[in-house]
Amino acid sequence: MYKKLVAEQIYPHIQQYVTLDEVASLIEKPKYTDKGDIAFPSFTLAKHLKKAPNVIAKTLADKLSHPLFEKIVADGPYVNFFLQKQEVSKTVLTTVLEEGKNYGNVPLSQGENITIDLSSPNIAKPFSMGHLRSTVIGNAIANISEKCGYTPIRINHLGDWGTQFGKLIVAYKKWGNEQAVKENPITELLKLYVQFHSEAEKDTSLEDEGRLWFKKLEDHDEEATHLWEWFRNESLKEFNKIYELLQIKFDSYNGEAFYNDKMEETIQLLQEKNLLESSDGAEVVSLEEFALPPCLIKKSDGATLYATRDLTAALYRQQHYGFQKAVYVVGHEQSLHFQQVFNVLKKLGFHWANEMVHVPFGFILKDGKKMSTRKGKVVLLEEVIKDAIELAANSIEAKNPSLAEKEEVAKIVGVGAIIFHDLKNERMNNIEFSLEEMLKFEGSTGPYVQYTHARACSILRKGSALNIEAITGLQDEHSWNIVKLLIEFPSIIEKSFINYEPSQVAKYVIELAREFNKYYSHVKVLTEDEQIMNRLALVQAVTIVLEEGLRLLGIQAPKEM
Ligand code: ARG
Repeated sequence: MYKKLVAEQIYPHIQQYVTLDEVASLIEKPKYTDKGDIAFPSFTLAKHLKKAPNVIAKTLADKLSHPLFEKIVADGPYVNFFLQKQEVSKTVLTTVLEEGKNYGNVPLSQGENITIDLSSPNIAKPFSMGHLRSTVIGNAIANISEKCGYTPIRINHLGDWGTQFGKLIVAYKKWGNEQAVKENPITELLKLYVQFHSEAEKDTSLEDEGRLWFKKLEDHDEEATHLWEWFRNESLKEFNKIYELLQIKFDSYNGEAFYNDKMEETIQLLQEKNLLESSDGAEVVSLEEFALPPCLIKKSDGATLYATRDLTAALYRQQHYGFQKAVYVVGHEQSLHFQQVFNVLKKLGFHWANEMVHVPFGFILKDGKKMSTRKGKVVLLEEVIKDAIELAANSIEAKNPSLAEKEEVAKIVGVGAIIFHDLKNERMNNIEFSLEEMLKFEGSTGPYVQYTHARACSILRKGSALNIEAITGLQDEHSWNIVKLLIEFPSIIEKSFINYEPSQVAKYVIELAREFNKYYSHVKVLTEDEQIMNRLALVQAVTIVLEEGLRLLGIQAPKEM
């Protein structure tokens, strides 16, 4: 917020050369804190003014003054601004305390819809590490978009259709057992699927049988439909256990099957616009002008494809939600697919296709290798989450055995650790999955931030009640470092939304937690002197921003742990 103030101070002196926005975009944070709080580099002005940057900086610094700045000085080519600590910290602390969890809201939208396609696991298959990443990243983006004024719509585009269901039906009818599937749906169904493939290597007629049953399914055969629904329900029950643990809710579970009866319309639309070409008996849309391979719409046997479903889903979502933006949080291996889908929509003349984005992410690795849930080697995610909760419970038992509601807190800490570990790195990075690492109470972890928050809450419990009116501001270096971070929060939110990068929020809460712990080791907050209200206000502001930052990431912040 003070960057704008700086821009407004400088602008009148150079307005014949640059716009206010240009001035604002040049403003930086000085590399070293002793160089001030905000810096303006004069290089860009040199060519306009035909003077050396050092001379320009000096001239500007001499002309500028404002009550919110302690001093404004030239340092080589830079004009450095030192904020008035007392006054500014008073304003910032008062603002954070008054706005509470609304602090950091950024008005980028007036409630327009943004659809977030996330999670989207495949029925009858295990919930993979990739689906976990999509779930966690997508949910954080949804929360952050909401903080920016949008109305997020979380859509779980389930993989619930395809030839594999024909195979599964055959396998179930031959080797399946109802009770076993009910008890362990994903494991059993996967076993059947794997068995189908190994048997089909010996007996090729199985493939034909599978195709036949899928055809039956497409033709609404009663038995086939009934089995499909059952597989779907059992799988969903399993997935819901994971969503329950992660505390994530969806607005829609309309997956691939939902679009079965809507695809004809899409194909007609493509036909009307003369976009369909046949290629070896298949129907495709050429994307030559985008230097992309053609998008397959219909196979030679008449079957529709993944892309056809995504095109249909996009049309449906635009009609149904009138989305202003549509975000697809899906692994980077599907980049080409989404480029094709978006460009076909552009060829159809839909301007809203320009507001669709694929938000890709890297792999989760175990000992440097991609963690796979295929080939029967299932790493059941629910187990992994439960392990994390158990490890968290052990740490709590060791640290704070008398804590109330230990089980609930262990759940929040264990789950928070997994989520934070995923979100703290830029999403395109691959991440190494290590439960021990992510559950440490020190270092860049979720538990570290949660623990810092709880520690701050405990100080507040010991202190007297806060009176916002009594805040007069703080002058010392340690407080000032925290105040500066508090000032940055709204711009962090904005950047993380614009880049679809929750890691910026995660990195920020780590930094704030670190700075707070430094403060806490240097300053006695509860000493009864004339500054106590200000210090308590600072501590409370930190709890508010840490809690809100974690909430945006999808993590709860217990008050005690
Ligand atoms: N079910 C797909 C998979 O597991 C992901 C679906 C992503 N969303 C979409 N609209 N295509 O690979």
